[in-house]
Amino acid sequence: MQELVRSHVKPEIQVFANPEALTQAAATKFVRQANQAIQARGRFTIALSGGSTPKSLYALLATQPWRSQIPWKQVYPFWGDERHVLPSDPKSNFRMTQERLLFQVPIPHENVHRIKAENPDAQAVAVKYEQELKQFFQLGAHQFSQFDLVLLGMGANGHTASLFPNTDAVHEQSRLVVASWVEELNTHRITLTPPAINNAHEIIFFVTGEEKAAMLKAVLEGQYQPDRLPAQIIRPTQGKVIWMVDQAAASSLSTAVL
Ligand code: 6PG
Repeated sequence: MQELVRSHVKPEIQVFANPEALTQAAATKFVRQANQAIQARGRFTIALSGGSTPKSLYALLATQPWRSQIPWKQVYPFWGDERHVLPSDPKSNFRMTQERLLFQVPIPHENVHRIKAENPDAQAVAVKYEQELKQFFQLGAHQFSQFDLVLLGMGANGHTASLFPNTDAVHEQSRLVVASWVEELNTHRITLTPPAINNAHEIIFFVTGEEKAAMLKAVLEGQYQPDRLPAQIIRPTQGKVIWMVDQAAASSLSTAVL
């Protein structure tokens, strides 16, 4: 399958005064996306991001008025990536989401599709999660998960999910999930692959903070070089991608992009 050449569709960039304003807007969008998906398809499938940026969003969704506006029983949470740790580990993306959201809202246990990263064999973790995706989305050969929404962050080194610079995962075009050895972290990470993400109806990046400004400019305005800037590999095949950023992260962007 040919790797998608850089899309010439300008990504939608929404700039907010501060992280609080961004989080409120993101929570409102989450509610809208969830209700639209449930109305259209009877369920809302979402791949959640890890890291610290989405923590405030997950916590806000568990509070009113957002909490009561989401039909939680039709929400099916997955994760875009996971660290190779126990679910009880402080580094676990699942644990972070559980504490801020899953423990607070009535999502049925059977709806939750955790990446079971406690298995010491990282490749086996990836295979199992991929099988779970194929079964849930009833995928045939060469078909990819089609999430209603994928939430992503971006690291200061340009990674997203666990697609890190100069790793094979960035160019994976047939698997849905891989276990990627990340030299700079000296660990495996389990991650959705670009096609498993790019087939989504909608992809939202959350990026805040001055420390991301240079990288955000490189990703959005620089040359297409996904090996160095993996976030650039995220180009939805048919859906849309929205960058929800705060002014600090957007401070280096040229007005032409905004
Ligand atoms: C993870 C995330 C990762 C994260 C970025 C940004 O497992 O850490 O999936 O891709 O989104 O590293 O992290 P921050 O939001 O903490 O800056």
